[in-house]
Amino acid sequence: MANAVEIENLSFTYPDGTAALKGLSLTIKANTRVALLGPNGAGKSTLLLHFNGLNLPQQGQVRIFGREVNRQTEKWARSTVGLVFQDPDDQIFAPTVGEDVAFGPHNQGLPPLEIEHRVVTALEAVGMTAYRDKPPHHLSYGQKKRVAIAGVLAMQPQIVVLDEPMAYLDPRGREDLLQVLTALHRGGKTIIVATHDVDLAAEWAEQVIILQAGQTLAAGDGALLTDPALITAAGLTFPTVTKLFRHLPEIPVRPLPRTILAGVRAIRDWKCHSEHSEES
Ligand SMILES: Nc1ncnc2c1ncn2[C@@H]1O[C@H](COP(=O)(O)OP(=O)(O)OP(=O)(O)O)[C@@H](O)[C@H]1O
Ligand SMILES: [Mg+2]
Repeated sequence: MANAVEIENLSFTYPDGTAALKGLSLTIKANTRVALLGPNGAGKSTLLLHFNGLNLPQQGQVRIFGREVNRQTEKWARSTVGLVFQDPDDQIFAPTVGEDVAFGPHNQGLPPLEIEHRVVTALEAVGMTAYRDKPPHHLSYGQKKRVAIAGVLAMQPQIVVLDEPMAYLDPRGREDLLQVLTALHRGGKTIIVATHDVDLAAEWAEQVIILQAGQTLAAGDGALLTDPALITAAGLTFPTVTKLFRHLPEIPVRPLPRTILAGVRAIRDWKCHSEHSEES
């Protein structure tokens, strides 16, 4: 199967002269959970806008499932890649929540019964069913974020891209969203999340991509997040579980655990090993 996303030597400069992407390349396999990390201004949001043709490459290439994104394919790209913007105020514009979520499916030319089903399911997934008839500008920021996510879910795109989806969500909302994303991934979708949350990246992502100054600094599995040189270079912090094990040199586990489960396993193994050593 073709890769979900291939970016080759992509550059993008804003009209005011800011070079946001500078020859960036990366590859994302289909049906992968990906975390895109990097400091403020690294180019994450600018990059994501290229995935569905909202930004077209000024230099280089973007391919989605092997097909180049350009003026001829941008409409196709928009229905294949659903993008939840960083700021929900950039995304929501209909007079009511329900109409806003229905907008995408309506544009896809779906029949009214199917649109209704999509709206009900998407609002339920983000816990916003009770707000269906409300004007979006009366909602809290976190509620708007949920509606923006519902709008993309309702289109059932093959690739779901979310820019800082957890920001402003309450703890329960974050857990619920993670479950939604996990279910989408099980259903065969590719999920790409730009985030500053290293714990989320550590627990959830199969692939981690770190951007810096408009380029790919590193790409690989979650173990990248336990690499001290890389964490320093990228201006990131270690995941919480990794921080804990950095304070426990007596437990000699490498790479350092980054998930709660891996941490628990390392402690159990170490305890078992020490008890065994004491006996012999
Ligand atoms: N519309 C714009 N006009 C000019 N410069 C812009 C515009 N949007 C973004 N930039 C600049 O492009 C660079 C990349 O910005 P971008 O928003 O892609 O970064 P980011 O990695 O998403 O940051 P954050 O973590 O803060 O969301 C920054 O230097 C930013 O100031
Ligand atoms: Mg951003």
